[in-house]
Amino acid sequence: MFLKKNANCGELNKDKIGQEVVLNGWVQKRRDLGGLIFLDLRDRTGLIQVTVNPEELPEAEKVRNEYVIAIRGEVTSRPEGAINPDMPTGEIEIQTLELEILNPSQASPLPVEDNIDTREEVRLRYRYVDLRRPEMAKKMVLRHQVAKAIRDFLDREGFLEIETPVLTRSTPEGARDYLVPSRKSKGHFFALPQSPQLFKQLLMVSGLERYFQLARCFRDEDLRGDRQPEFTQLDMEMSFVNEEDIFSVVEGMMAEIYQRLGEEIKIPFPRITYRQAMDRFGTDKPDLSFGLELEDVSDSFSETDFKVFSSIIASGGRIKALNFPGGAGLSRKEIDRLEKVAKDNGAKGLVWLALKEESFQSPVKKFIREDEVVSLTTKLQADYGDLILAVADEEKKASQALGSVRAFIGREYNLRQPGNFFLWVTEFPFMEYSEEENRFVAAHHPFTQPLKEDIKLVDVDPERVRARAYDLVLNGVELASGSIRIHSRDLQEKVFEMLKIPLEEAEEKFGFLLEAFQYGTPPHGGIAFGFDRMVMMLTGDNTIREVIAFPKTLRGVCPLTRAPGLVDLKQLQELHLRLDD
Ligand code: AMO
Ligand code: AMP
Repeated sequence: MFLKKNANCGELNKDKIGQEVVLNGWVQKRRDLGGLIFLDLRDRTGLIQVTVNPEELPEAEKVRNEYVIAIRGEVTSRPEGAINPDMPTGEIEIQTLELEILNPSQASPLPVEDNIDTREEVRLRYRYVDLRRPEMAKKMVLRHQVAKAIRDFLDREGFLEIETPVLTRSTPEGARDYLVPSRKSKGHFFALPQSPQLFKQLLMVSGLERYFQLARCFRDEDLRGDRQPEFTQLDMEMSFVNEEDIFSVVEGMMAEIYQRLGEEIKIPFPRITYRQAMDRFGTDKPDLSFGLELEDVSDSFSETDFKVFSSIIASGGRIKALNFPGGAGLSRKEIDRLEKVAKDNGAKGLVWLALKEESFQSPVKKFIREDEVVSLTTKLQADYGDLILAVADEEKKASQALGSVRAFIGREYNLRQPGNFFLWVTEFPFMEYSEEENRFVAAHHPFTQPLKEDIKLVDVDPERVRARAYDLVLNGVELASGSIRIHSRDLQEKVFEMLKIPLEEAEEKFGFLLEAFQYGTPPHGGIAFGFDRMVMMLTGDNTIREVIAFPKTLRGVCPLTRAPGLVDLKQLQELHLRLDD
């Protein structure tokens, strides 16, 4: 038996002075002052200083950083000069009576402290040590608290937490599947779920009415800071609801999560349609923490001599502009950077006008008339010292390119106000053109209801068909996405037809859902949050890898386990697989 703890390091305080405690933990730091050894002992709750007299306890001589030890000792107040105001337990220390080494440690591969600049690859290779760092441990605690708040809230609201299969068939979220070969059915494969979408709809057919799950999802796609191949969704579905019911449950839940963490958020969240979002911000996930809204300024140039603008207007395009207050002082190099952002995001160019006291500066100054500038500045409420930026193109392209410039300026020039700017974006397009597949595909997924009044547009103007689909956006990040679903076989078949998915293909892939729709299906709808993204927003990190205990790198590998790995020939044979090389 070892000396077993009866207290936690970080929870001790002056009230415990005079008491004897047993502590277990890791040695954060060791200082040998000749006659006395000082150890900072760490556990999940924090640090405490421990003093040991090596003459009485010679074991202490062996102790090094990251050793796991047990000590028994008396809580005492520190002498006047030794009080450390930066340490929560800085007024006290432990006089050690007994010390036991529970496990030694090699020199740590990374410093066990906050704000380190160790390479991420190394942190992930030794993630078990990385998670000892107080800031990382705090993130794991927070993640747990958020999950707990969600479960408590949804339980009170009558939701049931139900698990759905991980070994299943392909699900329709549009990414590449991870496949698992079946040993028992030669040539057959399971797919790991991209989301529990079909199962949660089946649970509604089952009459379970309100479902949620912290569900693991798998998508083989290009990775980014906010994308992992394996991630967690807070997945929800409700029967007999419309958009309002879903929004109000979600808003109540978010308010409770933030409140438990000591923050107030304002509900209900503002709403804009996809169309408004594209017009005003050039993106379907606008960051409302700063202004710089886009305006259509085509009218200011209806009789312009500037060929670039006049030819684009003539061909049905638009001119979108924004005003960057105080931006007239930007250097040429800075403006070139903005032009590069615009071009990287599809613009043919970026016109700029710097409004100076004397007059305005612009590379196209000689083509632009005074009355056009007046009209432009009036529309954009621009003033001396401001910088006007404009992109001319087919409307959506111009908005998107300028929207990227807007987002870049917000970040680069620290225009973002602190706070939580939530936003519902509604009425997403039902379908979008896929360059890759050369056809229209479901913008959300094919189980989403199109707006009834728009169905007639399918053959005329497919991109204008709107869906009962919505996203929840926070400070420019897509947190959650959902829709009101189709609940009749007829409409579902019509939608497959709209998407040019042959009925045989639909039967083959989703036949079980179509069949279920024939056995009494309630109207239903739902939403799924990127749970990792939700936690990332709460910690203020800019990648979800920081809030996942064991994430993959951007290359999709795990440096710790070295997965994915090679397998034995025998395993491949059992699975009826042969490698081609
Ligand atoms: P969607 O595909 O939009 O919808 O996913 C929902 C939310 O999941 C998060 N997310 C991710 N997070 C981390 N890594 C990824 N690779 C990743 N992909 C998505 C995002 C996103 O908003 N079944 C539907 C939901 C529904 O209709 O109810 C779905 O999965 O935050
Ligand atoms: P050019 O005539 O191509 O030399 O362009 C003159 C200026 O207009 C340059 O500053 C370009 O960046 C800008 N420009 C060109 N095409 C566009 C466009 N479609 N929208 C906005 N600016 C443009």
